[in-house]
Amino acid sequence: MFSELLHTIPPTERVVLEAAGEVTAETGINSYAVGGYVRDILLNRPTKDVDIVCIGSGIEFAQNVARKFSPAPHVSVFKNFGTAMFKLGDLEVEFVGARKESYNRNSRKPIVENGTLEDDQQRRDFTINALAISLKKENFGELLDPFDGLQHLEQKIIKTPLDPDITFSDDPLRMMRAIRFATELDFSIESATLNSISVNAARIEIVSGERIITELNKIIMTPQPSTGYKLLFDTGLLKHFFPEMVDLQGAEHIGGYGHKDNFYHTLQVLDNLCRKSDSLWLRWAAILHDIGKPATKRFDKKNGWTFHGHEVVGARMVPGIFRRLKLPMNEQMKFVQKMVLLHLRPIGLNRDEITDSAIRRLLFDAGNDIHDLMKLCEADITTKNAAKMKRFLENFEIVRRKLSEVEEKDRVQNFQPPVSGEEIMRYFNLPPSKPVGVIKDAIKEAILDGEITNNYEEAFQFMLKKAEEIGVRKRE
Ligand code: CTP
Repeated sequence: MFSELLHTIPPTERVVLEAAGEVTAETGINSYAVGGYVRDILLNRPTKDVDIVCIGSGIEFAQNVARKFSPAPHVSVFKNFGTAMFKLGDLEVEFVGARKESYNRNSRKPIVENGTLEDDQQRRDFTINALAISLKKENFGELLDPFDGLQHLEQKIIKTPLDPDITFSDDPLRMMRAIRFATELDFSIESATLNSISVNAARIEIVSGERIITELNKIIMTPQPSTGYKLLFDTGLLKHFFPEMVDLQGAEHIGGYGHKDNFYHTLQVLDNLCRKSDSLWLRWAAILHDIGKPATKRFDKKNGWTFHGHEVVGARMVPGIFRRLKLPMNEQMKFVQKMVLLHLRPIGLNRDEITDSAIRRLLFDAGNDIHDLMKLCEADITTKNAAKMKRFLENFEIVRRKLSEVEEKDRVQNFQPPVSGEEIMRYFNLPPSKPVGVIKDAIKEAILDGEITNNYEEAFQFMLKKAEEIGVRKRE
């Protein structure tokens, strides 16, 4: 089975493996393709980088392999890590000498001890990532699989090659990688490995935020991130880096009144959204849309449970969460914040409230992001009550139809009031002052309310009328 798969390796990768084989024949230094690269060939997934391990200096070996090509690619050397890499077109080829200690490319520890192939394989994270392909002439293409990685690929199992406590203490990020691979590949985590994650969860605290968020975002980009989030929650990892999300969990009941569990609701919204959008940031908006609920939760006999203003409180929490999780503090954060703030607006419109004016205001506030907001809002409908679901979806259709009607008529999405503050100042010969703002706002409101249409002439006439009303005269 495996030799057949070897033929599926694209020619660009094959020439690299053959060149490494030639260097092995010339120098007597054995070399192997390893790790995720081999896993992805076996899974028939597109491969990205080629990783080659040799039993000697990875840096010298890389230089020898690079010389086999003309022109020879530039070799970048990372002395501290004992690694070297070169690029051939889009392909990145990385070389490392086999080592006795943990294979952790993010560790700052310099590499000291050389090892055998088996040493190298057993210090890797999972059996499915510890497979090697020999590049020696005599057995080129032979699969070297001391930990049954091939069998685990077939059984869809994530398992550490050594005692999981050892593998995870070598690099605690691997606990998240286990969950990421399980979610991405739809595998299950073998019970001792899973148990060890629960036992060692607190050790994630020593891992940098940047490495954690890389794995979390990979989980979020899978088709069904709830699987990963549930594992993060159940193993106790999540609370160490994302306590706000954990706070969503739980459904309280008082005197016959209950509210839904907002953690599982959020995950359902996230999965729903993933069927509609590949945008990482819209997915983050789904994760954070109800994040203000625990802080705004109230109970009284008259109204039962309420979460008034949770969208405002949630939007305010976004920058702090982004900063701590090492997510970018730029327009992407602002986008997520805006989505959280507006997430109730489309669904909040009752059938009779879906007026042109309400729609225009929604368009004005959401701007270009209106379609993303609609996707989020639709994903947020998780009711199990069929009649309610039908009503929500029908209302949504009306909102969508009206949105496109109003947009076509008034072009509010990128709306800038047609008479600017500068023009008001120039016309009345006013310095920057309160009346300028009052007139400008009044024009905007009149357009949004449908009192005047969105064009220069009507806005100008309205400006004159409003100025007179508040006693502003043209100053000579
Ligand atoms: N590895 C490890 N422990 C880590 C990171 C990586 O043992 N904390 C080993 C694994 O053998 C892994 C290989 O290094 O297969 C390459 O790592 P990386 O490129 O980060 O991941 P891949 O497994 O290739 O997966 P992906 O490309 O999907 O991230």
